[in-house]
Amino acid sequence: MGPVPAALLDDPRTHLLVLTGAGVSAESGIPTFRGIDGLWENHRVEEVASPSGFEADPALVWRFYSMRRRAAKGCLPNRAHQALVLAEQALGPRFLLATQNVDGLHRKAGSRRMIELHGSLFRTRCFGCDLPEFEDQRAFEDGVVPRCERCKRGALRPGVVWFGEALDPRHLEEVDDFMVQGAREGRLVFLAVGTSGAVYPAAGLVHRARRLGAETWLLNADPADNGGAFHHFLQGQSGELLPALLSRR
Ligand code: OAD
Repeated sequence: MGPVPAALLDDPRTHLLVLTGAGVSAESGIPTFRGIDGLWENHRVEEVASPSGFEADPALVWRFYSMRRRAAKGCLPNRAHQALVLAEQALGPRFLLATQNVDGLHRKAGSRRMIELHGSLFRTRCFGCDLPEFEDQRAFEDGVVPRCERCKRGALRPGVVWFGEALDPRHLEEVDDFMVQGAREGRLVFLAVGTSGAVYPAAGLVHRARRLGAETWLLNADPADNGGAFHHFLQGQSGELLPALLSRR
């Protein structure tokens, strides 16, 4: 599998930032976005994952997310998720996971030092008011659109970041602080896994990491759109590559 960095987890200077994408959940049975050609039941994903899509047809959007809630609930974490839990245990505060996945599988596996950049399938908030986001496992598949108890006007919506929406700036700040501190105190390693590098700002993290002097790795089944920015590229399945890369001596 090419050069393996000597004792990544055993090196006391290592500060490891991992960015994961849909490819990490593929081996758990959750289809990737580009894997379904960006289509769901002939709707473009942007149509069912955007504020304008929700305004146009909230029941359709809830059907899409209810199906995804159901699918994710029935899936189990795989060896890639587990390898990241072990890395967190080995590195403690020198580890951070930033995921674009909303399926909750990292949490189910046991990851805690984790930022869900694109939110979570299992949270709900209001489209019309600032009702605090809450845990929610419910499915709305029969054309019913849940309403907000607080403002009584707004429709409830999934707590995920949609196309055209901004990420929580506190999340980006936390990721940036981790990188700055890692670069200052030790050996900063940035590892992107199972992500096509097509969606920003996540796809831009590698550039920031490079500017800070990080060692950068990409583990992906196919070449990524931003692949040229990485020092190392290992092509294959994350369930095999990640445990190998993060194995301890
Ligand atoms: P994509 O579906 O764009 O890319 C998944 C990547 O994983 C592809 O490049 C595949 O080659 C790769 N892949 C598939 N199976 C794999 C495996 N078993 N092991 C390793 N790699 C594998 O998913 P993301 O990059 O996560 O945004 O997409 C980024 C964002 O765009 C998503 O979070 C979502 C999407 O539209 C929102 O929903 C806001």
